Amino acid sequence: MIIAANLKTNLTRKETKQYIQELDTYIKNNAISQEVLVFPAMSSLDENDTSIIIGVQNAYPTKNGAYTGEIGTTHLDEFGIQTILIGHSERRHIIGETQEVIVAKFNYYKELGFKIVYCIGEPLAKREAGEAEMMKYISAQYEGIDTNYENLIIAYEPIWAIGTGLTPTLEDIESMHKELKKKSPAPLLYGGSVKVTNAKEVLAVENVDGILVGSAALYSEHFCSMIQYAQELS
Ligand code: PGA
Repeated sequence: MIIAANLKTNLTRKETKQYIQELDTYIKNNAISQEVLVFPAMSSLDENDTSIIIGVQNAYPTKNGAYTGEIGTTHLDEFGIQTILIGHSERRHIIGETQEVIVAKFNYYKELGFKIVYCIGEPLAKREAGEAEMMKYISAQYEGIDTNYENLIIAYEPIWAIGTGLTPTLEDIESMHKELKKKSPAPLLYGGSVKVTNAKEVLAVENVDGILVGSAALYSEHFCSMIQYAQELS
């Protein structure tokens, strides 16, 4: 299974280093064979000699150049980073990235062979508008994306469940994942208010290949428990 932590705009470089070390120690001491990914804040990217795959939460589709506030592959290469999160709802809705911008980023990093964790998910209004409306909205997020890309991981994250403590029912997760599996053979993660208290049951849902965790992953002991659940289920 794939267990991923999106640290968002949290943890300093020093805290991140300690966090990654704690995870690595846990993984080694418990013979964990799951794929563990961590996406630190950009300024916390660093050398990594652990078993954990470090990814970037965002990067511009460029090597380098005049893109104020952005980083390119020169900066990722410095730390051997070959994993990127694309299409996260906070980037779509807070930063304002359009599907067009997202597709350009996807294609650029796909061309370089990066592991791409591609996020999709609907706002509450779309879910409440019924199945057809909701699937139409989600399908638009697949437009322009190579769903057969070999290094693709998809994360289904209902927007209304992110950072809110609300989660869909297990039945809802199961039926959505069943639908989404028809669109792509890529591993499919669930994300949105996954906590140590519900991770086990979410991971046990059919067609859930892992989880993408935000706030609850900030506590290394909680995240380690989730890794352990995945290990037990595998
Ligand atoms: P959350 O965030 O676990 O805090 O809901 C998940 C995410 O945004 O990836």
